[in-house]
Amino acid sequence: MFLGPPGAGKGTQAAALAAQRGVLHLSTGDLLRAAIAAGTPLGREVDQYMRAGELVPDDLMLRALSDRLTRPDARAGFVLDGFPRTIAQASALEQIAPLDLVVSFELSQETLVERLSGRRVCPRCQTVYNVTTRPPRLAGRCDLDGAELVQRPDDQPGPIANRMKVYARQTAPLLQYYQERGRLRTLAANGSPEEVAARLRRIVDAVRPETTAPTRPASR
Ligand code: AP5
Repeated sequence: MFLGPPGAGKGTQAAALAAQRGVLHLSTGDLLRAAIAAGTPLGREVDQYMRAGELVPDDLMLRALSDRLTRPDARAGFVLDGFPRTIAQASALEQIAPLDLVVSFELSQETLVERLSGRRVCPRCQTVYNVTTRPPRLAGRCDLDGAELVQRPDDQPGPIANRMKVYARQTAPLLQYYQERGRLRTLAANGSPEEVAARLRRIVDAVRPETTAPTRPASR
C-alpha cells in the first residue's frame, strides 16, 4: 500500500510497479472518478466530497473497495493507492485483505504543490501528464489518443490546500499505525520518476522478491 500526501507520486509509481509485477493497481481515487464519469449512484454521492478535497465517508469507501477486491483480477495481488486513508479504513482492511508492506512517500510541501498544479489528465484514457515534468508531445493533447487534456477539479489552489489539511488530520495518523505493526517503510519521493522507481524497487524486493514475469500493461 502506498501512503503519502496528495501529489507525492503514488499513482505514477503504483501503475508502474503493478505492471512490472503483473498485479492489480487499485487506486480508490481512479475508482471514484470512474464512477462519477459513468454517473453511477456511487459517483453521484461522492462528487461533492471530491471536488472540495474532502474524504468520502468510510462506509461508502469500504463498500466500493470490498466490491473491487472480490473481482478475479485482484486474486494475483494488488498495489493499493489511496486506501486506507483513515484509521477506521485501516482496521476494516485488516479483516478483508491484510497488507504485506506500506510505503510512505516523503516529499517537500513546495514540490507537492508544484506537481499537483502542473498535473493534466487525459479524460479518455486517464494517462497522467505534467506540464513541467512530464509534458505531452503536443501541448494540451494526449500522446496516445489526441484527446484534450484536462485539470482535475481538485487540483485547483483551494481544494489542494484543503487536501493537504485533510491528509495531515485524517491520514497521517496511519504512519504511526503501520509503524507500530512493523509494516512501514519510507521512500524519498524526490527526483525523477525513474529514480523514485529504483528506490521503491529495492524496498519492495526486500519484502517480496520478484518471482514472476510481468503480465499486465500499466494502467497509467
Ligand atoms: P486520489 O486520487 O487518491 O488523490 P491523492 O491522494 O490526493 O493523490 P493524487 O492522485 O493527487 O497524487 P499522487 O500521489 O497519486 O501523484 P501522481 O502520481 O498523480 O484521491 C482523490 C480524492 O478521492 C480524495 O481527495 C477523496 O475525496 C477521494 N478518495 C480517494 N480515496 C479515498 C479513501 N480511501 N477514502 C476517502 N476518500 C477517498 O503525481 C502527481 C503529478 O506529479 C503528476 O502530474 C505526475 O506526472 C507528476 N509526478 C509524479 N512523480 C513525479 C516525479 N518523480 N517527478 C516529477 N513529477 C512527478
